[in-house]
Amino acid sequence: MKAIVIYSSKTGFVEKYAKWIADELSVKAVRTNDVKVKDLKDYDTIIFGGGLYAGGINGIKLIKKNLDTLKGKNIILFATGASPGRTEEIDAVWDKNFTKKEQKNMTFFYLRGGFNYDKLNMKDKMLMKLLKKKLQNTKDLTEDEEGMLAAYDEPVDFTERENIRDLIDLVRKNRK
Ligand SMILES: Cc1cc2nc3c(=O)[nH]c(=O)nc-3n(C[C@H](O)[C@H](O)[C@H](O)COP(=O)(O)O)c2cc1C
Repeated sequence: MKAIVIYSSKTGFVEKYAKWIADELSVKAVRTNDVKVKDLKDYDTIIFGGGLYAGGINGIKLIKKNLDTLKGKNIILFATGASPGRTEEIDAVWDKNFTKKEQKNMTFFYLRGGFNYDKLNMKDKMLMKLLKKKLQNTKDLTEDEEGMLAAYDEPVDFTERENIRDLIDLVRKNRK
């Protein structure tokens, strides 16, 4: 069985997981922009990862637009965000990005990333500044919101190699 890891990463968190996964499986990790769908015909397992941006998975268009071409392949997705990844949040992300029918043919993992304001591009910095203002004007912040606010001053990194374990096990199980 031949597998490939494809990823879109803005500030490095997804990239870290993509490289860990590729290393563990001894396969290639390539950026979404460096991949053409026709090159994927040689692979039977496609692992795609992208960061969460307002609930959307960065770069997921490559998979969404080509579901017909990728039919029959083993598609495993992972998304990386700053949030702790509670079940209801993960379900909401899954539902926002894929229909129930599409979900049946793929497996989705949430791997917690982090947040690094300094590494963001101008547009994302502006969006996050707006959120910061909103949070600063909110009276009773949740624990998550307080954590988010603190992360503007000091980058947070929740990545752990151990988090890829279930994804790796699934790929290995499918290989047998
Ligand atoms: C504009 C913006 C929106 C974001 N939206 C979410 C979100 O909806 N859920 C979440 O968990 N994290 C969110 N984040 C945090 C990123 O998903 C997180 O930093 C992730 O690890 C980034 O991975 P990357 O740097 O590899 O793209 C957001 C960050 C930015 C800048």
